[in-house]
Amino acid sequence: MDHSSKSNMPNLENFWMPFTANRQFKAAPRLLASAQGMYYTDIDGNSILDGTAGLWCVNAGHGRRRITQAVERQLSTMDFAPTFQMGHPIAFEFAEKLAAIAPGGPDAKLDRVFFTGSGSESVDTALKIAIAYQRSIGQGTRSRIIGREKGYHGVGFGGISVGGLVNNRRVFPQIPADHMRHTLDVEHNAFSKGLPQHGVELAEDLERLVALHGAETIAAVIVEPMSGSAGVILPPRGYLERLRAIADKHGILLIYDEVITGFGRLGKPFATDYFGVVPDLVTTAKGITNGAIPMGAVFAKRFVYDAMMHGPDNQIELFHGYTYSGHPVACAAGIATLEIYQEEGLLYRAAELETIWQDALHSLKGMPHVVDIRNLGLVGAIELAPRDGAPGTRAYDVFVECFRKGLLVRVTGDIIALSPPLIISAEEIGKIVSTLGEALKQIG
Ligand SMILES: Cc1ncc(COP(=O)(O)O)c(C=O)c1O
Repeated sequence: MDHSSKSNMPNLENFWMPFTANRQFKAAPRLLASAQGMYYTDIDGNSILDGTAGLWCVNAGHGRRRITQAVERQLSTMDFAPTFQMGHPIAFEFAEKLAAIAPGGPDAKLDRVFFTGSGSESVDTALKIAIAYQRSIGQGTRSRIIGREKGYHGVGFGGISVGGLVNNRRVFPQIPADHMRHTLDVEHNAFSKGLPQHGVELAEDLERLVALHGAETIAAVIVEPMSGSAGVILPPRGYLERLRAIADKHGILLIYDEVITGFGRLGKPFATDYFGVVPDLVTTAKGITNGAIPMGAVFAKRFVYDAMMHGPDNQIELFHGYTYSGHPVACAAGIATLEIYQEEGLLYRAAELETIWQDALHSLKGMPHVVDIRNLGLVGAIELAPRDGAPGTRAYDVFVECFRKGLLVRVTGDIIALSPPLIISAEEIGKIVSTLGEALKQIG
């Protein structure tokens, strides 16, 4: 692949890029110019197979006309309207449609929907709802949130406080939080297919933190039912059940961060459905609009919403919201996205592909430096042994080499993560694995 042509190269100086080594990137940029279906095209016209659904968000594949048309229609009908003490029909319509597929099904009653603009906003919203709920039921001392090591919950101050990735935390002050241990155990669970066997006892950390801080100080516990950003960390069998039981015992709300797992990633509409363990609040974003327009949503159990609906009718019950909560254009994109998911059966497609996907990924066992392979739904991770004294550089080099060969993967530390659009074909799965295999053989 030839990256020497600079004719389409913009001036790179001004955009301060997020979560990017700016100087390294600007010295050797990778710029995508268009996208259709499973493929990006870079500015030099090279085709790049999307192994990451953009950033875990383009679940229905790129360039969906139906979403474009819905957005165009909404933009020309009403570009923006506020949702503070005002409303517009499409926000209510989208909330109703989301409620109809809400995590856990109708019995779970997770069908009160608060709109946000991103995953980070969804997380901070859920944390605030949890604390406000506890106060509204006379539990005002409960303001601490329990998260987990290696958790990723976005970049708001709430999200980094409950998150467990040190680089996201060390520079910034935080809200009161504490952390359970993470569940990654390569020593005992390496090359597990699907959920790992070992580690259910790690859920008992919640009991330990209750004993340490007092249940009366804890509002909620938040986990990703499957961690994506830290490099695909799966819950051991029975873990989420145990967490639910301990949270119930101590009056602690359970929050699932489904920003990645929501909208079909695991072969069910939500991880809540996949695991059959229902939390009290669910955060979503990304796949909610197929990544086309920024948006997020928090699903709350009815009892949480109802508990807040007290006091005089003219009193605002929750002092929280965003200018773009329920943005009409995002709602239009979201409704069109849901229609595509439903008509094409995409919320269940990962389950159909899971065995092909699992076998393909695990065929990389034995390749140079591979110390673990993990998979669930249409998510995969290949963990590499780090280079001596230079952690992260090996996987980064694999990422760059894959891109040169026409495949987009994602790296965190020495872990290569994969989460392709749910429209992927078996052939394209084969292409991901063969390209990765070649790159792994090449990189020392
Ligand atoms: C589990 C989880 N929560 C929250 C976020 C933050 O979402 P956003 O980048 O839209 O703020 C992410 C993003 O990857 C995520 O994976």
